Amino acid sequence: MQGLLFSGHDTLELATKYGTPLYVMSEDIILERIRGLKNAFEKTGANYEINFAGKAFTNKAMCKIIKNEGICLDAVSKGELMTALAVGFPPENISFHGNNKKESELRYALEHHIGHIMVDNEDELSLIDKLTKEMNTEIEISFRISPGISAHTHELIQTATEDSKFGLPYALAEDIVVRADQYEKISVVGLHCHIGSQIVDDEPFVLAAKKMMSLYKKIKDRGVALRMLNLGGGFGIPYLTGDEYFDPVTYIPQMVKRIRDLCDDFEMDMPTLIVEPGRYFTAEAGVTLYTIGAVKEIPGIKTYVTVDGGMNDNPRPALYGAEYEAYVCNPKDHEDFKPYAVSGKACETDGLIEKVNLNQPKVGDILMIPNTGAYNYTMASNYNRYPRPAVVLLSGKRDGIIVRRETDEDVLRYDEIPEWL
Ligand code: LLP
Repeated sequence: MQGLLFSGHDTLELATKYGTPLYVMSEDIILERIRGLKNAFEKTGANYEINFAGKAFTNKAMCKIIKNEGICLDAVSKGELMTALAVGFPPENISFHGNNKKESELRYALEHHIGHIMVDNEDELSLIDKLTKEMNTEIEISFRISPGISAHTHELIQTATEDSKFGLPYALAEDIVVRADQYEKISVVGLHCHIGSQIVDDEPFVLAAKKMMSLYKKIKDRGVALRMLNLGGGFGIPYLTGDEYFDPVTYIPQMVKRIRDLCDDFEMDMPTLIVEPGRYFTAEAGVTLYTIGAVKEIPGIKTYVTVDGGMNDNPRPALYGAEYEAYVCNPKDHEDFKPYAVSGKACETDGLIEKVNLNQPKVGDILMIPNTGAYNYTMASNYNRYPRPAVVLLSGKRDGIIVRRETDEDVLRYDEIPEWL
């Protein structure tokens, strides 16, 4: 009996073959997104770069997909850098981000000739100065700037308000960037901002682009050879049917035009324009499959459907109040949708969905939660000592493991007993 399809594959077969909970990713959807965005840029004739924000979904296979598509990577840790380099990702196409990079991480990046460092603050700059001299190596950097803009999104994923831990405060940035250009082995080539995540209207992006362009012009006028403007990621996706979303394919040509017009006004060359989406490429390319373990009615209140995962594999509802839909994958001989709450198996109130209409969920059925391809696998935990799920990649008719399921032994792997116990 065929179950619900995802990206042309029977979810029931996938659940039987690989077990649950299971992250399923569609390479076809990821490629469609990447190519759509590339195409939108190509049509404008502007110089551009696309950096995939690895924090949304990083592992070796994803780095290979990104590499095969010839786009760049935004990495935020030595772990992400190592993952990319392990599959032969060209180091020159990697930007190293982070608001508190450790000396060992910077050293690793310089040793491995990572193309670009996104500098967050002056202390980091001094450290890079010290390391480049010590290691006798050169590096191109951009500065992350906080343009002081409140994007309309959850406050925990706003990243460029005036009160932000990220980047140089806008008011101080000009002088700091100009001063940084004096360092012997550091070339300051760009400015960067990222105003937040899951943003669905273009107004904050337009505002940020304007503010960044005006800063870019002032800094260029003071003799710094800037050539790159990175406007970050943050493109919001529709988590629920009918949700508003951001369509970068429509937005990119408008953004390029605005920036081109500003450059004409300023009599300045167009910078290379960079965007850095994470969620947009992978969120809708992923679903999570669970097995239903219990259907519990609390008379007069609600009925809980409990699944074999929860906040361990998807902490977003608990962290951000994120909302999801769900579908029973097993075929039913008639339709009888009723409201249910979907909760996980963690030892706390780890509701995944407060209320969703489901068609006769039964113990043993497979439940699919869509749009879980970004910030789920990468934010998963071993809370309650549960092993993390496997990740399966679908490509056309093929399916294959890209991250194996953790075993119970894996969970115990790092434990040590000191000699006095
Ligand atoms: N660039 C920088 C510098 C970033 O900090 C981020 C995300 C991105 C790009 C990619 O943003 P995206 O296109 O994926 O929105 N865990 C949260 C999201 C945190 C985003 C952090 N930075 C969530 O689950 O919604």
